[in-house]
Amino acid sequence: MRIGIIGAGQVGTTLSRHLALVGHDVSLSGLLIARTVRAVAAFADVVVVAVPFSRYQELPVAEVAGKPVIDTTNYDSETDGRIRELDEDRITSSELVQAHLQGALVVKAFNAIRWEHLREHAHRDRFAGRRGIPVSGDHLRAKKAAMALVEEIGFDAVDAGGLARGGRKFQPGTPVYAADLTARDLRARLHT
Ligand SMILES: NC(=O)c1ccc[n+]([C@@H]2O[C@H](COP(=O)([O-])OP(=O)(O)OC[C@H]3O[C@@H](n4cnc5c(N)ncnc54)[C@H](OP(=O)(O)O)[C@@H]3O)[C@@H](O)[C@H]2O)c1
Repeated sequence: MRIGIIGAGQVGTTLSRHLALVGHDVSLSGLLIARTVRAVAAFADVVVVAVPFSRYQELPVAEVAGKPVIDTTNYDSETDGRIRELDEDRITSSELVQAHLQGALVVKAFNAIRWEHLREHAHRDRFAGRRGIPVSGDHLRAKKAAMALVEEIGFDAVDAGGLARGGRKFQPGTPVYAADLTARDLRARLHT
């Protein structure tokens, strides 16, 4: 599968390595990397967004329409600047990403695990204490594609529900955030 990763930081480069290792054709783009963000988005069957949340409005829209887009971002008012509707929990960050990326099939995943743990706990088989990764989204095909990628790189994918209700369950500040749980414990805490 062709996977385009936008944001060549800790999360983006870690996922690039994992996904390439299991045989995907991965293209990575950051502001200072040669391939442009638009070229990477256009090339991809699945797009991964790994930029600071404050930059989501810079993401190209036309190139990702109709495609699964995995949103790894988290809102942090200290670094992203205050966004009142998020602070008041009237909407979630992934819903804002979806509203910007009209026509894209946004799935929230890989946001609730620290990048070092994403690096260290990958590529485990099913009987070696795999960590669970919660996934939420409103588009079944896209969520399935994201969950398959989670599994391929050696984590257990846990369906947390739709983008808004499900995504709220594993944002920063929730009991499962950065908690490094197995799928079983994750399901119990998510009440899925
Ligand atoms: N770090 C973690 O443990 C962790 C875990 C889960 C989720 N997350 C979330 O994942 C996202 C990425 O985190 P990170 O730690 O990987 O951040 P990071 O190391 O700061 O990397 C972000 C990357 O995005 C690039 N970028 C910024 N604006 C861009 C744009 N418009 N187009 C393309 N690339 C752009 C940056 O490039 P420049 O440096 O050139 O600006 C940088 O390479 C954040 O939203 C974060 O909240 C982080």
